[in-house]
Amino acid sequence: MQLLIRNIRQLVTVSADGKRHKTGNQMRELGIIENGAVLVEDDLIRWVGPSGDLRITPDEESTVVDASEFVALPGFVDAHTHLLFAGSREDEFAMRVGGKTYQEIDSAGGGILSTMNATRGATKKELKKLASKRLDAMLQHGTTTAEVKTGYCLDEKGEVKLLEALRELEEEHYATIVPTFLGAHAIPPEFRSDPEAYVDLLCTRLLPFAAQRRLAQFCDAFCETNYFSVEQTRRIFLKASELGISLKIHADQLSQMGASKLGAEMNAVSVDHLENVNSDGIEAMKRSKCIAVVLPGVSFFLNTGYPPARTLIDSGVPLAIASNFNPGSCMSFSIPLMMTIACTHMHLTPEEAICAATLNAAAALNLSDRLGSIEVGKKADIILYDVPNYRHLAYHFGVNHVAKVIKNGTILEF
Ligand code: NIG
Repeated sequence: MQLLIRNIRQLVTVSADGKRHKTGNQMRELGIIENGAVLVEDDLIRWVGPSGDLRITPDEESTVVDASEFVALPGFVDAHTHLLFAGSREDEFAMRVGGKTYQEIDSAGGGILSTMNATRGATKKELKKLASKRLDAMLQHGTTTAEVKTGYCLDEKGEVKLLEALRELEEEHYATIVPTFLGAHAIPPEFRSDPEAYVDLLCTRLLPFAAQRRLAQFCDAFCETNYFSVEQTRRIFLKASELGISLKIHADQLSQMGASKLGAEMNAVSVDHLENVNSDGIEAMKRSKCIAVVLPGVSFFLNTGYPPARTLIDSGVPLAIASNFNPGSCMSFSIPLMMTIACTHMHLTPEEAICAATLNAAAALNLSDRLGSIEVGKKADIILYDVPNYRHLAYHFGVNHVAKVIKNGTILEF
């Protein structure tokens, strides 16, 4: 099956030329083709270039799209979400607006544990329905790939339910889903007096189960004061690595305890959050191959400090941005909104923000060999936007500019 998209007003390829990710000034080079064309066969991109150079005559059954009104970009890759949850926390939002902090609400029994109670109480079917609706909406806003973490059940039966729900969603949903095991999201109430026993449960039961059934591509941990210590995180990560599961880490979000350094030293594929990263952490990340994933929506929503994204880019650390969609610290999955916040509050250029949400975000999931740019051989995940040029995506914020979503070479109808 062929799909030809031609006369594209502006084709933003984010061309990587075989690179896994971009760093420094490369992040500003988006490989833009004015009046571009893309030929897709089945789910793969076969040709990319200026419309005038296209020498292929499409087959009779081909679908041809005239995109002279549209700007095309690769589908966004959201490399950090917690979208598999039940319930919501608008009461906490009101408390925060009234002056309470995220940590105060958490230690009073709200926060992650409040969502844990709602998620434990939901069936797999109910959770899948909620997640599927969220993934539909994400596709409609230009996100074609989403990493999704477990971590809102925090007991054996519940975390298995979440892992299985993710497997079924991977098979049933149009979006590409990358499952991450985040059993180490918080210490559940039953283990408050013996957190090591919970770490034992993760290492001896849940990680081996996830590995054996190939249910998790990544293992993540919230390495933070009052959550998981550096030593506990190291133990969990050693076990995950032994089982062949790649690593991600929630690092330096609320305090500084060496989490980003640990992530870099243990070869985590990505080190996420970084609101409180220090120079040791940045140096360690520079020496490693990890991608720094920053989450602009969290600082915006919690009204707390932003990660030093400008310094990270200028130091040569590859940077991605993600939504961190979750009911507590960022109730939004809009990547264009994250790009706007990254530009206005973290001093990224609009070009860097696009690279951070596409190619570098795909690298944060080990997927940049097939996703994150519009290049021959990559998956045909292409979004057409009704804007005059690509800069409008971050500039004209709070509006969904998506005109068409092409996922794996298919034009989706909503
Ligand atoms: O990445 N930091 C840990 N996890 C989420 C928040 C989850 C929640 O509040 O429910 C985060 O910000």
